[in-house]
Amino acid sequence: MSVIAVIGAQWGDEGKGKIVDLLAKMVKAVVRFSGGDNAGHTVINPYGEFRLHLVPSGIFHPGVICIIGNGVAVNPKVLLQEIDNLRKHGVDTSNLFISDRAHVIMPYHILLDGLEEERRGAAALGTTRKGIGPVFADKIARLGIRTCELLNRGEFEARLSSILELKNAILTKVYNASPLSFRDIYEQYCSYGEKLAPFIRDTGVILQDLIEHGENIILEGAQGTMLDPDFGTYPYVTSSSSLAAASCTGSGTSLRQVDQIIGVFKAYTTRVGGGPMPTELKDKTGDFIRERAHEYGATTGRPRRCGWFDAVAGRFSTRINGFTSVAITRLDILDPFESVKICTGYKLDGGILRDFPSDASVLSRCKPVYEELPGWRSETSAIRHHKQLPAQARRYIERLEELLACPVGIISVGASRDQAIMVEQVM
Ligand code: IMO
Ligand code: MG
Repeated sequence: MSVIAVIGAQWGDEGKGKIVDLLAKMVKAVVRFSGGDNAGHTVINPYGEFRLHLVPSGIFHPGVICIIGNGVAVNPKVLLQEIDNLRKHGVDTSNLFISDRAHVIMPYHILLDGLEEERRGAAALGTTRKGIGPVFADKIARLGIRTCELLNRGEFEARLSSILELKNAILTKVYNASPLSFRDIYEQYCSYGEKLAPFIRDTGVILQDLIEHGENIILEGAQGTMLDPDFGTYPYVTSSSSLAAASCTGSGTSLRQVDQIIGVFKAYTTRVGGGPMPTELKDKTGDFIRERAHEYGATTGRPRRCGWFDAVAGRFSTRINGFTSVAITRLDILDPFESVKICTGYKLDGGILRDFPSDASVLSRCKPVYEELPGWRSETSAIRHHKQLPAQARRYIERLEELLACPVGIISVGASRDQAIMVEQVM
C-alpha cells in the first residue's frame, strides 16, 4: 500500500498530468488537492489529447476513483464542461467525486480577479483570471461558499445574499463597476448544484476507507512549489498551497499516511505570468525551447518564459517538500543542444548565493551562475530504458540528482503515456 503525492517542483506546468496518468494504472484513487481551473494538466493517451483543469488525471483509467478534494476551488461551469467533454470522448466519469467541503468559484471572484489585476497596472501578477485569488481569500475570510451549500437552497440563499451585498459594495464603490444580480447568480448556482449533486460526497471518508483497505492512492498537485503562497516568489504566487504538506490538508489525509513524495521537474525551467525567474532566456535559445516544446499555457494560451534548469530553486523545492524521488519530464526537448546548462548559484552584489532568497525583489537582481555540460545531440524520445540513454544525457540526469540530493525515479521523453523511462519501481 502506498499513498504517493505528486508535486510540481518548479513554477507549474512540469508535466504532473503526464506522470499521474502514467502511474494511475497502479492505484485505486487519484485526488486533486489544491488550486482550481488555473491548472492545466495536459494528458495525451489512447483516448486523445486533453487539458484537464479540475478533473484528476487518473480519470482515463476505468475503475480508478477520481476525487476533487476539499482543497480545490471549483468553478461549476468549467467542471460540467470538462465532464461533458470527457464523456464525449468515451471516458467513464462514474467514479468521479467532489468534496462537499470544496469551495465554489462565484462570478464575483472572476470579476474581482480581473479588476484587481488591472488596478495593479505594471505590477500585475499575470494571474489566469479564473478567480483563484478572490476565492481562496474568501475561504480564509470565512466568506466562501462550499459545494455542500449548493445542495441546501435555503441556507445558500441567505449566505449568498449577505455575501453578495458586500461584493456589490466593493464592485460599485471601489471599482466603479456594475453590481451583480442576486437572482441570476442564485438561480444559476442552484442549477449547478442540481447537476453536481450526484458527484458531491464527504470524500475524506471515501479516502480514509481506501487507505484502511490498503489501496494505492495518488494525491495530485497543481501549480508548483515556486508558486506556493508561503515559499514561492511572493507576491508572484498563486493563492493555495502547492506543497507536499498541502496534499494532506487538501484531501483529508494524515501526514503519517503519505509514503512517497514525487517532485516533478521539467528538464529545463518555464514560468508563465509575472515575477522573477533567474534562468529566463530572453534570446534565441529561449525562443527555440518555447517553439520546440510548444511552451504555451494550457489554460490561457500565453507564451511561457523558458530557461535552463535552476538547481538553486530546485534544491530549495526538494528540501521543503521532502521529495523521496524526482520525475524529470521533457528531457527530449534538450536533445538537439550542443551543450546544456544548469544554474548552480546566483550572483548577487558581488557574492554568490547558494540558497533561494525569500524576497522577490532580491531574486529579481540575481544572475545565474551556470555549469555547462556536453549535450547528447541524439533523439531520446523512443528510449524506454535508462541504460539506453546517451552517456551525456545520463550524466545530465546524474548531475541533477547530485544537485537536488534526490534520486530520479522517472524520466519522461515525450508527451504520450508510453514515452517514459522507469528508473526505479514506484509501487
Ligand atoms: P499547473 O497545475 C503554471 C500562475 C499564473 C500566475 C500565478 C497566479 O498547470 O501547473 P492565479 O490564477 O493562480 O492567481 O495566478 O500563478 N499559475 C500557473 N502557472 N501552471 C499552473 O498550473 C498555474 N496556475 C497558476 O500564471 O503567474
Ligand atoms: Mg499546466
